[in-house]
Amino acid sequence: MIVRYEVFDEDYIPEEILFRDTQISRISFNLKPAMHKSRPVNMLCLGPPATGKTTVTKHILNSAEDYLTGVYINCQINQNKQQIFSRIFQRLYGYIPPSGLSFQKLYSAILKKIVERDEILFIVLDDINFLPPKLLNEVLHTLLKGHEELQGFKIGIAGISTDMRTSAILESKTLSLFHPDEIVFPVYDLDEMMEILRRRAEIGVVGGKVLNSALELIVEKAFEYLDLRFGINLLKLSILNADRKGKDFVDAGDVEEVIDEGRGIFFKKMVSALSKDEIEVLLAIYTSEKKFTGEIYSSFFKSKISYTKFYEILRKLENLRLIDTAVRYDKGLRRYVVRRFKSEEITSAVEKYSL
Ligand SMILES: Nc1ncnc2c1ncn2[C@@H]1O[C@H](COP(=O)(O)OP(=O)(O)OP(=O)(O)O)[C@@H](O)[C@H]1O
Ligand SMILES: [Mg+2]
Repeated sequence: MIVRYEVFDEDYIPEEILFRDTQISRISFNLKPAMHKSRPVNMLCLGPPATGKTTVTKHILNSAEDYLTGVYINCQINQNKQQIFSRIFQRLYGYIPPSGLSFQKLYSAILKKIVERDEILFIVLDDINFLPPKLLNEVLHTLLKGHEELQGFKIGIAGISTDMRTSAILESKTLSLFHPDEIVFPVYDLDEMMEILRRRAEIGVVGGKVLNSALELIVEKAFEYLDLRFGINLLKLSILNADRKGKDFVDAGDVEEVIDEGRGIFFKKMVSALSKDEIEVLLAIYTSEKKFTGEIYSSFFKSKISYTKFYEILRKLENLRLIDTAVRYDKGLRRYVVRRFKSEEITSAVEKYSL
């Protein structure tokens, strides 16, 4: 079997992005003012994990290079203001800013470069649900009031998040500058997942074939988790597995053998991003019998973290789709948590992937 393994890598941008025409044209339309040297419309791209938000945005960034200066920043990796602005600096100047450069100098250097070159800056802040709300507000606000610091500075921002209610955590002073167009990325349905995975298999496996029976099983599993990324990973592992055996086709048996391995990887991104407190809350939910959020808080966390902090954590876990929460009437409205996975799956993922 001849396999182009890079086609299954996490950062591979498919040439053809299927089922996202609405989102692509809306984002492109919002960027259009930049062609006329005017500020693009700010955006929030919102949707559950693995719905193509990063892929679509990167694809558009690549194709808009002629008329704007795009900077892609992942907020899961760059988690403070200095780091985020350093990334912008690096993109504009071509080198990492000298350590010890004050924030003010860093900021001024960014503004100056853009104005000097008469360019328009377009920043993609990916995975902003990983930033504490206060920091997110500060970053957005600082960037968007750049023109007050230096006349002629033009910027557009697209934030990407799994939190559909992102706008609600933005302060009014941020919102008044930002007022984003919200673009929703829905979960792919079964047929869409099938089509995307089939194409991926065709492009990635050159000498050989992924049989329909294998694809069907992969899609079934991906759909169970509502996660295309899980499907692509499982596809990759299955191909590896068949290749190892010297076969030139992948069948359902090859998939079957790697499903457990695939499941583990699925949790990696989510779990590796959690802080110590967040891991503790996650484990409490998956290992105790308590269901109501109030009970969980008072039994395990009352002496450790504030109630507000506890709710922030629940919300983050919910955004990462590690848990669901819902409200039930039981002597008043009470919020309870719903597990989305088996307890062992979570505990072993924490053992393997938490930092
Ligand atoms: N429409 C599509 N066509 C082809 N491949 C896609 C499409 N949408 C997503 N993918 C693939 O699915 C995987 C997940 O997509 P992506 O990383 O863009 O999701 P995301 O919405 O950014 O998820 P997260 O919120 O977890 O970061 C990637 O491997 C990507 O190549
Ligand atoms: Mg993404």
